[in-house]
Amino acid sequence: MTTPTDPRGTGSTSAGSTGTTGNRPVALITGATSGIGDAFARNLAGQGFRLILVARDAARLAGRRSVLLALGAPEVDTVAADLSTDAGIDTVAELLAGSRVDVLVNNAGKGLAKDFLDSSDAELMELLDLNVTAVLRLTRAALPGMVKRGFGGIINVASIAGVVPGRGGTYGASKAWVIAFSEAMHMEYAPAGVRVQALCPGFVRTEFHQRAGIDMEGTPGWMYVDADKLVVTSLADLRLGRPVSIPGALYRTVAAGAKVLPRSLIRSLAMRVGWKPATPDGPTGTGPDDTGVADTGFAGTGVADTQPAAGVRRRPAD
Ligand SMILES: NC(=O)c1ccc[n+]([C@@H]2O[C@H](COP(=O)([O-])OP(=O)(O)OC[C@H]3O[C@@H](n4cnc5c(N)ncnc54)[C@H](OP(=O)(O)O)[C@@H]3O)[C@@H](O)[C@H]2O)c1
Repeated sequence: MTTPTDPRGTGSTSAGSTGTTGNRPVALITGATSGIGDAFARNLAGQGFRLILVARDAARLAGRRSVLLALGAPEVDTVAADLSTDAGIDTVAELLAGSRVDVLVNNAGKGLAKDFLDSSDAELMELLDLNVTAVLRLTRAALPGMVKRGFGGIINVASIAGVVPGRGGTYGASKAWVIAFSEAMHMEYAPAGVRVQALCPGFVRTEFHQRAGIDMEGTPGWMYVDADKLVVTSLADLRLGRPVSIPGALYRTVAAGAKVLPRSLIRSLAMRVGWKPATPDGPTGTGPDDTGVADTGFAGTGVADTQPAAGVRRRPAD
């Protein structure tokens, strides 16, 4: 079966599975119950992939099974695991190491609406554990089998926030790590038949912002990328062997600008669009200009907060 996720375009899969669905490609998707992960699951189900879904909420995972089976997935297995914990990562890593998985989508991730000094160590470490450690360890677990079979695809969901500097620094830094890591993995393992991609979405309508406590109210509709279209672009880019996928003309332009413009100019632009500097009185809270900043690294509402309020110190240019 030829699928857009077949890195070699042949549709072949390795042997070793049993049963009537044994020759179907297998995909494991983390954070598969909602948003971008659910869009991947629906797309791959429609292509006849056997699916393994990972998320924390077991009841919600079970609820997705019938939908995905109806869409064409021959088998849907679910694993309830918290990927911000060692135990949760161990469970999924063992599964990846011990079974054939052709496509791994490291999608589960989280943001924080709080500024750095408002966030506790535990909150920041939980973000890094989910956005970075889980991606690292699950990639590490899946790769040996893929390399041995000479076949595989890994999509690591990053963000445009990893491309441009902005608020939500820990989130953006975690996604910059995902991009750098994925590119390096692609370079190292593409010759062995395994393609690795960093997928960099801009705004997507999912539960992400609500979970993070980010107010998206003023964000215009044109700034959103449709989750289903995003997934189609990502899978097409994987087939084409592109290690970085940036769906949507707006975000491709932002990324292209970030590549060619001086970093000092990018920082200065980012500070003019929705940047609310820390105040001498303490860390800033969430405000009306916080829409999505923690996610994309710029407010993107078109409402620039360029004037420092009285008593507010600008961050020194470095
Ligand atoms: N939406 C955007 O605008 C946007 C933009 C750029 C990048 N992204 C990235 O896209 C990815 C997916 O986000 P989304 O927008 O689709 O978010 P979403 O709708 O909130 O979905 C998050 C998924 O991850 C699961 N999840 C959350 N925490 C988990 C944990 N600790 N362990 C295991 N699973 C966990 C959730 O299920 P449970 O709660 O049941 O665990 C859910 O299935 C993230 O990496 C995010 O950083 C999103």
